[in-house]
Amino acid sequence: MTATEALLSTDPAAATAAAAGSGKPFVDFNRVWLAYDDELARRGEFAVEDISLQAAAGEFIAIVGPSGCGKSTFMKLATGLRPATRGVVSINGAKVAGPLQQVGMAFQAPTLLPWRTTLDNVMLPLEIVEPYRSTMRKRRGEYVERARALLKTVGLAGYEDKYPWQLSGGMQQRASICRALIHQPRMLLLDEPFGALDAFTREELWCVLRDLWQAQRFNVILVTHDLREAVFLADTVYVMSPRPGRILLRREIDLPRPRPLDITYTEPFAERVHELREKIGHKPGNQHDQH
Ligand SMILES: Nc1ncnc2c1ncn2[C@@H]1O[C@H](COP(=O)(O)OP(=O)(O)OP(=O)(O)O)[C@@H](O)[C@H]1O
Ligand SMILES: [Mg+2]
Repeated sequence: MTATEALLSTDPAAATAAAAGSGKPFVDFNRVWLAYDDELARRGEFAVEDISLQAAAGEFIAIVGPSGCGKSTFMKLATGLRPATRGVVSINGAKVAGPLQQVGMAFQAPTLLPWRTTLDNVMLPLEIVEPYRSTMRKRRGEYVERARALLKTVGLAGYEDKYPWQLSGGMQQRASICRALIHQPRMLLLDEPFGALDAFTREELWCVLRDLWQAQRFNVILVTHDLREAVFLADTVYVMSPRPGRILLRREIDLPRPRPLDITYTEPFAERVHELREKIGHKPGNQHDQH
């Protein structure tokens, strides 16, 4: 088992030992540049430029920045879906050389398969990722129980046999998060997962994610446009510049945990949101505000 496999392993003991033994950050971007093809690289047109970032094992980071600045590109680099043009991306000290299987992902639009029930959608990664895939026949009952338990923690008990089109947007997004976590990945990547939801549902799901993370302490990389969301959930927030994306600011969010939703109405919370907003430059009279 390589260090990366150990860390992404479903065996918590192996993962913890690997994390403790390495003494290195879990996520390590070292001067990473990405151009989407050779021609763009030759012309010096990069989607992200000179990204350096380290996250400790179990750290929750959020990435904020304007549309098109390279946030999704960053996610593709973190999971090995795209190789860096320059620089090195490592997960637990091992260079990422191809797509990492045991990473959980959820996106803005829930991508549930319409012909599968909620339960079967959540089970999907177990049919693909080892060691579940090869033990599915023997241990199916156990895996079904795990999926049911996870659905229950996000308030979807009783909806296991419904199809995605029978669920609201928020419920579909809850199921997507379950699907991203069912194989107990060490890293969860969320690309604007709550963007399409109304404010109440969004805040409810912040709490769902907070509680899952608090209990399991996987690494999270959350991409969001919502500064309040970033400050409420993350240990560390990174602000990216407009295209080509660079990291403008790294801000540790020192608000105590566990964080109740009420904290979002406090002065210290507002101050941190304000500071990030200033840095992004989204002020009245700015070009972003002209419609
Ligand atoms: N497959 C691709 N091929 C070529 N260029 C791409 C590709 N995907 C993204 N880009 C370009 O890279 C830049 C960064 O895109 P990316 O999707 O990472 O932005 P983003 O920050 O996620 O934006 P948004 O907030 O709108 O989702 C954009 O200029 C985009 O046009
Ligand atoms: Mg994006």
